[in-house]
Parts: sequence; C-alpha cells; structure tokens
Amino acid sequence: TTMSAMAEPPPLEQKERYKVGFSQMESNNPWRIAETKSFHDTAESCNWDLIATDAAGSAAKQVADVDSMIAQGIDVLFLPPREEKPLIPAVMKAQAAGIPTFLVDRSVDPNVAKAGEHYVSFLGSDFVDQGKRVAEWVIENFEGDKGIIVELEGTTGSSPANDRKSGFDDRILQDDRFEIVASQTGDFARDLGRQVMETLLQAHPDVNIVYAHNDEMAIGAIQALELAGRKPGEDVMVVSIDGTRDALQAIIDGKMGVTVESSPFFGPLACEVMKKYAAGEEIPPWVKVEDRIFTAENAADHIDEAY
Ligand code: AHR
Repeated sequence: TTMSAMAEPPPLEQKERYKVGFSQMESNNPWRIAETKSFHDTAESCNWDLIATDAAGSAAKQVADVDSMIAQGIDVLFLPPREEKPLIPAVMKAQAAGIPTFLVDRSVDPNVAKAGEHYVSFLGSDFVDQGKRVAEWVIENFEGDKGIIVELEGTTGSSPANDRKSGFDDRILQDDRFEIVASQTGDFARDLGRQVMETLLQAHPDVNIVYAHNDEMAIGAIQALELAGRKPGEDVMVVSIDGTRDALQAIIDGKMGVTVESSPFFGPLACEVMKKYAAGEEIPPWVKVEDRIFTAENAADHIDEAY
C-alpha cells in the first residue's frame, strides 16, 4: 500500500539537446566559480542549452531562481542547495513540474526530501568522512601535549557545515589530548573567516590548532594569525578542506598542514549521470565522489591543476 503512495522522480526523455538548469548559490569563492565554470565547460560537449543563475548567497533567491527556471521549461535541474531546509520547496516544486532534479555538491534534509523519490540522486563528496580525515591527520601530526582547537564552521544549516563538524568533532574528541574551545561560523567566506578568527584569538590566545570547514576561511584565519604576530604552520596548525590553489600554496609555504579534497568539477559527472538516467539506467541515491588529500608531500604536484 505504501508503495503506491511513494513519490518517484520524474523521468527524463532521451533527446539530442537538453535545456539544463544550474542554480548556483553564490560566487564569492574560487570553489563556487570553478563549479559554475565546470557546468559551462560541459554544456557544449553534452549538448546542453544551459541556464545558470547565481543566488548571491540568499536561499530565498535560490528558490526564486529555480521557480524561474521551471517557468522557462528546463528539462532537468542541477541544484547545489545552499542550506538543507530552505531549499526543500525548490526540490518539491521541480518534482511537481515534472522536472527531474539532481542535487550536486550539497544536500537537503534527508528526513523531508529523499533521493529516488523527490529527486533522482545526490552527486557529491562524503563530508563526514572529509572531517574525519582531517581529524586523523591532526591526531597523527600534532606534536604538543595539548591541542587547543578553534573551529571555523561553514554556512549555518548547510550539509557540508553540519557533516564536516560532526565528522571532525567525533573523531578528534576520541583523543583526550584535544579540546575544541570555540566553534563559530565564518559562512565559508575568507573575509568572515579572518574577522571571526581575529575575535576568537582574543578570547583564546592559547589556540594552537585551527580547523576551518573550507580553504577560504583557512586563508582568512592565516591572515588573522599573522596580523596577531602568530606563526601559522609553526605555532598554530591550520587544517581544512577543498584543495584550492591558495591552500596548496599555503601548504607549500609551510603555513597550512593539510587540505582534504572536495572537488568542484561536477560538470562531466552531471552529463554522464543525466544520460544514464535518460537511458533508463538505475541511478544510486548517492553518486559518491572520491577525494584525495593534499599535504606537504604532494601539494606541489597538484598546484598547476588547482583553481
Ligand atoms: O559544498 C561544498 C563547499 O561549498 C565547499 O567546501 C566550499 O568551499 C563551498 O562554498
């Protein structure tokens, strides 16, 4: 009985060209710009007429952007939802309009909207695992007796902020050398990361580890630390996630310890999965992206391909 009541994502017709919607959430960091570029770069080879929007950091605008794409008659939607709950209406409206949706890079609240029901699939990294891998690197490489950690969180209510926090915190707190003395949002932005770090440094001058949920905030934190006369990489270990060019350079310069990769290059994967779906192939609820890890050992080998 429940089977017939279960929602199903709309099918996708097989055709020569597709009208594709890509609803970007903001363009204030190199990661977002690289992701948008990846969709534009894929458009020609995948036969897409691409409509790309930029919500400029507003979940409400992102919902409105999706509304307007639906009105323009897109065949398929690729959506990186800025936050887990506010973007659920966008997923539901696309479904109601008969448009199959693929979530890319971020997810929505799984208790409300489900892969294989309200949307086809989530294409992206395992954020919990990313946080856990950063914690494991810190546990292996921290040499002091007592690790005093400041955590710079990503956008409040976003899946990467939630998951990178739980993945890191759960693992690091299993080792009683470590204490998280402050955990505050820097909204995944460099400038806010710098400002928040400046404030937290005054309250916690004994900090010797900074874990940022992305590289932009890590770079902001490095600026704040240097301004305060600290030596990132020497008296403060700085660790984060993404693999941007600036982060790889900071690792090469000895200011940052590690960044666990989170790839923004979703265009080719989006093309491949969309074609399989149109051909009637079964798409798993989560198409997992495998992430590398960048440290002093290999950062120089990857900086040329970084963004
Ligand atoms: O959703 C992925 C995260 O979003 C990236 O780590 C961050 O840099 C981006 O804004």
